[in-house]
Amino acid sequence: MTVTSDDLENMAKLARVQLATSLPGPKPICLIGTRSATGSPNLAPFSSITHLGSNPVLIGMVTRPDTVDRHTLSNILETKEWTINHVTREIVEQAHQCSARYPDDTSEFDATDLTEFQHPEIHSPFVAESPLRIALTLEEVIDISSNNTRLIVGRVKLIDLPNHQIADDGSLDLAHLGTLASTALDTYFSLTQIAKLPYAKPLQTFP
Ligand SMILES: Cc1cc2nc3c(=O)[nH]c(=O)nc-3n(C[C@H](O)[C@H](O)[C@H](O)COP(=O)(O)O)c2cc1C
Repeated sequence: MTVTSDDLENMAKLARVQLATSLPGPKPICLIGTRSATGSPNLAPFSSITHLGSNPVLIGMVTRPDTVDRHTLSNILETKEWTINHVTREIVEQAHQCSARYPDDTSEFDATDLTEFQHPEIHSPFVAESPLRIALTLEEVIDISSNNTRLIVGRVKLIDLPNHQIADDGSLDLAHLGTLASTALDTYFSLTQIAKLPYAKPLQTFP
């Protein structure tokens, strides 16, 4: 099967979203925790999360155009802070439900029975059920003019691993933690590690 850009333009909107969000392959699925300046907590699942650099440690995510109220975006712009909470099999339905468009005075924690964990140094809420939680501060917002989305760039302020250690080489055993991956806006996968290979160098050639 071959699909051209004309075919893409002629696809039904939801089918095109489904296809487009599957094309990059599996992505993370995390709950983004924010709190408005007036104190209301908010959770939303995001998959467009990617590492942007290691010195300083930067993580970016893409937000949709703000043609409707976007609580995650407006809270981040207000407070310059958010949390990333990895999603496991145990909370995947609740995490998915957080994508519903709740009014801004409804907390997704209350709506889905997820538990809020308030770290003393972090204004934004963490998800207590999440095994890997990260707090970030806003570095910059990059407007993507092609489609009015935005790349939100955050600097890691704190990593919270309630029941896990980081290995001496810095690696995290995400499969052991039960972290999930996702495609499209409705499909979730568990992780199975199949290899951990040494740093690649050009293969030695012999005369
Ligand atoms: C699996 C999944 C992944 C999503 N990824 C993103 C994303 O990367 N960026 C985004 O803006 N919205 C994403 N969404 C949609 C938001 O979760 C949804 O618009 C939510 O209502 C936003 O809530 P808020 O207004 O509280 O920020 C995703 C939804 C699902 C179900």
